[in-house]
Amino acid sequence: MQDPASKARSTNPLRSNRRKRTSCPDHSNRPFPACSANDVIREVLRLLDSYPARRHVTIETTLEPDLSPLFADRVQLQQLVLNLVLNALEALEPVGGREKQVSVRSGRAEDNAIVIQIADNGIGLDHPQTAFEPFFTTKAEGMGLGLSICRSIVAAHSGRLSVERNVGFGMTFTVTLPIQSKGAP
Ligand SMILES: Nc1ncnc2c1ncn2[C@@H]1O[C@H](COP(=O)(O)OP(=O)(O)O)[C@@H](O)[C@H]1O
Ligand SMILES: [Mg+2]
Repeated sequence: MQDPASKARSTNPLRSNRRKRTSCPDHSNRPFPACSANDVIREVLRLLDSYPARRHVTIETTLEPDLSPLFADRVQLQQLVLNLVLNALEALEPVGGREKQVSVRSGRAEDNAIVIQIADNGIGLDHPQTAFEPFFTTKAEGMGLGLSICRSIVAAHSGRLSVERNVGFGMTFTVTLPIQSKGAP
């Protein structure tokens, strides 16, 4: 005789739905396509066009040639770099009395990883870690979600996003992405 618990399992419609859902094709091991970190940076800067210049900000770009390709979602990486550059520009908005500068760099890290750094000489932030909390914003029109989204994007690529205060003015955000990352999109 069938025991009551297994009968309930076989007749419970929620359970049978769940079985159906989990039998869908599993894409979790589908690799990201190959993608160039330098191309992502160039695309974002092209997208911004004259926007930084109109805000009297100079963007200095130093891209390491011959970087290994990343296996990454290109659009998500664009969103990541764009968010960080927009934050840098916004941190320069109130600045007066010095040249406003943002620097965007790419390079290799020791542990088979690629590094993208966005630095500014803006107003800075006293407690940098709080900036990653969802809905934390110091801007009148801010949503406070940009850095949370950046962290999620980096985590989805098995990478790291860190921040530190510069010795002089402003902040540096560092994205570290493993070259072998082949996680799900
Ligand atoms: N480059 C930066 N310099 C100084 N503060 C920053 C920088 N980037 C982020 N922040 C701080 O972190 C907060 C959260 O950033 P973010 O999550 O992108 O949300 P939002 O830009 O909508 O405020 C900002 O409001 C700002 O206070
Ligand atoms: Mg932002």
